[in-house]
Amino acid sequence: MTEKDFLSSSYPNIKNEGKSVWKAPSNIALIKYWGKRENQIPANPSLSFTLSSCATTTSVEYRRLEKGGADFDFDLFFEGNPMESFRPKIEIFLKRIEMYLPFLKEYHFKIETSNSFPHSSGIASSASGMAALALCLMDLEKELDPGMEADFFNKKASFLARLGSGSASRSIEGDLILWGADQEFPKSSDLYAIKYPFGVHGVFRNYQDTILLVHKGQKQVSSTVGHDLMHNHPFSEQRFVQARRNLSRIRPILSNGDLPAFVQLVESEALTLHAMMMTGSPYFMLMKPNTLEIINKIWEFRQSTDTNVCFTLDAGANVHVLYPENEKDLVLQFIKNELVVYCENGQYICDQIGFGAERVMGS
Ligand code: DP6
Repeated sequence: MTEKDFLSSSYPNIKNEGKSVWKAPSNIALIKYWGKRENQIPANPSLSFTLSSCATTTSVEYRRLEKGGADFDFDLFFEGNPMESFRPKIEIFLKRIEMYLPFLKEYHFKIETSNSFPHSSGIASSASGMAALALCLMDLEKELDPGMEADFFNKKASFLARLGSGSASRSIEGDLILWGADQEFPKSSDLYAIKYPFGVHGVFRNYQDTILLVHKGQKQVSSTVGHDLMHNHPFSEQRFVQARRNLSRIRPILSNGDLPAFVQLVESEALTLHAMMMTGSPYFMLMKPNTLEIINKIWEFRQSTDTNVCFTLDAGANVHVLYPENEKDLVLQFIKNELVVYCENGQYICDQIGFGAERVMGS
């Protein structure tokens, strides 16, 4: 499919008012997206686990205006309160997607959103937030064009979410999601994410992700700026080649359930992401001393117990601790005994692999 397939010109139906509510999950990348071209095209393909508990719920109430204006017309609420500081981000998103949803200026929208995780926990809400909003707007498009197929609905939701935030394209479906075109993966696309198209070993079913909240403050450098620094980065071309190679390497690992190889690849991806931050110009570092304490403890524990616990990181100081479900008791005990002391206010979130966004009924 190309961008043109997502353009809509006229609709068979008219819809004067309505409401749509979606809950979209966060996701954690195993193979990282870091670096992009114009129009949110990723420099390399990325692969993620969709999460389950960490999610954003967004409700969009819409009312058709007598006369469409020159600007977007919307009110924004975050966790029950007006949230003007989100307005510029939403404006940019609506501008980017307007050509694909040409009715946007014909409606007034009341957008209400809330997260399942604590505010400013350092967990990026842009992936789940943009995915939930894209899904609500797709519901309205489906009202205008009821013949739309479910597969197209999901693809276009991912396509639109991507224009809001790249990683959001991976928050529509579950449980293992691939975004970015790669020869070895049929139907993969730079424009939207797809379900991982090959078989996956049972050990990855219900894979666990305990998120250790190391630093809850504002990030020192946004992802947008970080991606931008991959232009003119001395190692970027090598990194993009490596990501593609890792995607190829993870395929047999996922099908055979080779956990030692999985651990090695996933941790290497996380450290490479941060290495890119540390070797750019300007350079920066998002890991905190406690991030490193936790990583070292995980390495010691893995060696001494013969478990397969490992870590990954996103663009921040928090640590995602990944492990198979059959190691849950042992690893949770370890986390409580040895890692919680490194978390801000002792906070952590127990999550696991999830199956994608859900429409909230009865709304
Ligand atoms: C480190 O999706 O937040 O989490 O497209 O600029 O919104 P934008 O960036 P974003 O980048 C996420 C980067 C990452 C890795 C990943 O999720 O693949």
